[in-house]
Amino acid sequence: MKFLKIVIVLSFIAAAIACNQAAAPRKSFVIATSKSYEASIFRQNCAICHGQEANGKEIDGRIIPSLRYGAAAQKTEAEIYDQIANGKLPMPSFRNQLTEEEIQKMVKFIRRDLQGKEE
Ligand code: HEC
Repeated sequence: MKFLKIVIVLSFIAAAIACNQAAAPRKSFVIATSKSYEASIFRQNCAICHGQEANGKEIDGRIIPSLRYGAAAQKTEAEIYDQIANGKLPMPSFRNQLTEEEIQKMVKFIRRDLQGKEE
């Protein structure tokens, strides 16, 4: 009977881990298969540097940051807006590529869909 108890305890632990993962923020948002307008802007303009799923990338030894984790997740809406609109070398400004509305949509996309922040 001792064996059975161990099995029961282990399955409780497994269930607890599974629940914990389900409650994680929406960092599992998949850009590649998303049909949203923002995801398509990302694929066309940002993925080349930030990686297909915005997890960051290394290009010629330079680290391009993730937009999901790390410093990007500490930035305010205004800072993210500023980064996209004005750029910061070597990232280009997108003021002439994207409309005002599109830049604002991308700020929300990064915070809500990629970082799992509710606002
Ligand atoms: C040519 C490559 C390139 C492209 C294209 C690009 N970025 Fe970047 N991006 C960078 C680099 C490099 C940085 C880090 C800049 C620095 O050192 O502060 C960055 C930083 C950022 C940050 C701040 C992240 C942080 O960790 O603070 C955001 C937000 C961001 N990019 C969004 C975007 C979005 C949205 C697009 C598409 C519209 C885009 N980027 C396109 C290269 C790029």
